[in-house]
This record gives sequence, C-alpha cells and structure tokens, in this order.
Amino acid sequence: MNVTTEQAIVPETEEPQAADLFDKFAPLIQERDNLLATGVRDPFAIVMDEVKSPTEAVIDGKDTILLGTYNYMGMTFDPDVIAAGKEALEKFGAGTTGSRVLNGTYQGHKACEEALKDFYGMDHAMVFSTGYQANLGIVSTLAGKGDYVILDADSHASIYDGCFLGNADIVRFRHNNAENLEKRLAKLPPGAGKLVVLEGVYSMLGDIAPLDVMVPIAKKYGAMILVDEAHSMGFFGEHGRGVAEAQGVLDQVDFIIGTFSKSVGTVGGFCVSNHPKTDFLRLVCRPYTFTASLPPSVVATATTSIRKLMHAGNKRAHLWENSKRLHQGLRDLGFTLATDEPESAILAVLLPDQEKAVRMWQALLELGLYVNMARPPATPAGVYLLRCSLCAEHSAEQVEQILGMFEAAGKATGSIPQ
Ligand SMILES: Cc1ncc(COP(=O)(O)O)c(C=O)c1O
Repeated sequence: MNVTTEQAIVPETEEPQAADLFDKFAPLIQERDNLLATGVRDPFAIVMDEVKSPTEAVIDGKDTILLGTYNYMGMTFDPDVIAAGKEALEKFGAGTTGSRVLNGTYQGHKACEEALKDFYGMDHAMVFSTGYQANLGIVSTLAGKGDYVILDADSHASIYDGCFLGNADIVRFRHNNAENLEKRLAKLPPGAGKLVVLEGVYSMLGDIAPLDVMVPIAKKYGAMILVDEAHSMGFFGEHGRGVAEAQGVLDQVDFIIGTFSKSVGTVGGFCVSNHPKTDFLRLVCRPYTFTASLPPSVVATATTSIRKLMHAGNKRAHLWENSKRLHQGLRDLGFTLATDEPESAILAVLLPDQEKAVRMWQALLELGLYVNMARPPATPAGVYLLRCSLCAEHSAEQVEQILGMFEAAGKATGSIPQ
C-alpha cells in the first residue's frame, strides 16, 4: 500500500492537526516586525545596484563607500584577476557541472591547488566550493563519533556545523582563553581522538587568537590542530599566510582552512596541510564529494589572486595604516570599540542594543557609508555592533571621509556626545 492510499482511508475527522513548522521562529519574526515598525530599514536586505570598485558602490541610487565587505586586499577588480577569469570563461565554459571526484576537476582546479601549496609552502591543498564547505567537510571528516572537537565558544557557524555533521563530541572553551583551553583538554581521555579548532581572526570582534600560546597547549595534549585563517589570509604574516605565520607557529598547525571570499576576492574554500594522508580526504569528505566544483572562471581568478597576494607587502602595510587610523579616529570621537588596539582589518563599534545599532547603521547609510550591522547569534549573546572592515584600496582620504560620517551619524543618533 502506498502512502497516498493509506492517507485516503484515514477518516477526515481523525486527521492530526499539522504543526506549523514556522512556529519555532515566532519570537524572531515578532522581534523583526517590531524593529521594522519603528521605521528603520532592514539591515539584512541591502541591494548593491552597482559596484564601482573594491571600496565604492551605488545603493538606492546613492554613491556609497563600502566599509562592510571582506575584500581586505581589494582583489575583486584587479585587472589580472579579471583577465584570468574572462579567459577561463571563454576557454572552459560557464561551469563544470560535476563533483571534484568525477568530471568536475579541470586543470584550473589543480593549478589553483598548486598556487595554494606555493602560497603556504605546504605539501597538500584541496579546493572546495566555499569556505563554509571546507570547514564543514574537514571538521566532520576528521572528527567522527567518539572523537572530540575542542573549539572556541565564538567559533564560526561552519565549524559548529562540521561538528554536528561528524557527530563528534563538542568541548567549548571560553573565547581566546588559553587557560580554559588547557583545563578542557586536561579532562579528556588521553587516548581519544582530539581536534582543536582555532581561528586566526575572529570576525565579529576583529580580535586575534593567541595561537603562539594555544598551539603548544594543544600539542601537549596530543591534539591535531586546525586553524581557520579566513579573515587573516593575505594580510597577516610576512607572506600573508595568516596569524599562525605572524606568530611563528605555522609549522605546528596540522590543517589551515581558508576561503577565497575574503582577501582572494572571489568565492571558494580550501584546506592546506603537510599531513601525508591529506589527499585521501577527497574520497571520504562529503561536502567535497557531493557537490559541484567551482566554475573554471572562478578558480582562474582565485589562482591569479593568490599568486599576486604572495607579493603584496605594500598593500598589507597600507591596510595596517588604514586600520590604525580608523581605530584611533573612532576612539577619539568617543565610540566604544571591541578591541583596545587595532588587531586586524575588522573594527567593531559596540552599541548598547539592537535599536541603537540599527539607527546608527541607517544614519551612516544615508550619509553614504555601508557597514555591517551584526547581532546574536552571529555575535556573542547581548552584543550589538557595527562591523567596519577595511580594504587595502581605501585611500587615506576615504578613511578621513569615513570618520566624518561616523561623527555626523554618531551625533545625530546620540551614539556619541554632541
Ligand atoms: C571564520 C570563517 N570561516 C569560514 C567562513 C566561510 O567562508 P565562505 O564565505 O567562503 O563560505 C567564514 C565566512 O564568513 C568565516 O568568517
């Protein structure tokens, strides 16, 4: 008997009341409705009508400075990157229509993996379709049932989702707290499989991890170490390899995860490692195997960008200057920032609640400045912030313009004194 027949013989009166699967979102829907009823714009529904450069777009017909992208190194409009993408599009077509393990590996994917190996000075590289999938895939494949993933409480959603997919036991330690990490590790069974997952830069507060302290602790307890350098690749370290390079512990890290959607300026994800069995993961990593590979034009842009980022010392220096100037300027204006010093290309301006954060965000947008409004669960509980992410292509003049806009919007909304 098939399902349709079975349903047909149940008398109508006995049909169970179907639960509305959206019921669980009712509080969130109500909160959003209440906020929008105050007349503010929806910060999660912005449309870029035109993008003119890594730092400028047109939003609602208005020229707007972009201070809320992940385009740290400004590679999206690099002429060589664009030319490489166009050439691959012409030569290889719009997409691969296949998985990396079947028809979806082109010579361009291998060239991209070679570029990553050269960039990091490592033996193995795997390119995924997004950074989310790289974390999902590597974490879930390495740490399965009975293993432990020891992670920072503020870890990115893709890391948590990797733990859920792999069915590993999750052990959280307090954000950036090395002592707490050690305490957690000390309680785990000595012989158990352990993966410590850290991030170079934490993207909401823009703070960096003390990898030079945490990595040796993880090693002491026999754990493998994965560092997500999504927000640090290209910018940190002499060769742009990330915070692990900058803090001198890259050779002790087992797996680096990264993305092409930030400094590289396109889309895609990757894992690099010196572990001799890394390539075996291609056969058992579901988010690598059961999805289509990146289009040839995308991997061509990524390859060109990665190779250029190896020699981007001047850009790195200018980005640091931008970060320092904006941090100092915002503090001088009276804003509260998440970090005492500029630690990365991300500066988080803290606001007391969602309504004040959205009002300030909207005032900036109306003045011609786009920043990210962030709230829980993306941020830690109770934290509302405007995330400013700088680009190596922001000019010194743009940074001064940005400060002028923060001053005007801050005073107009009462976020800083008149
Ligand atoms: C720390 C971290 N890891 C991974 C990702 C996922 O990257 P992607 O955008 O390539 O999926 C992000 C994205 O914001 C991130 O912040």
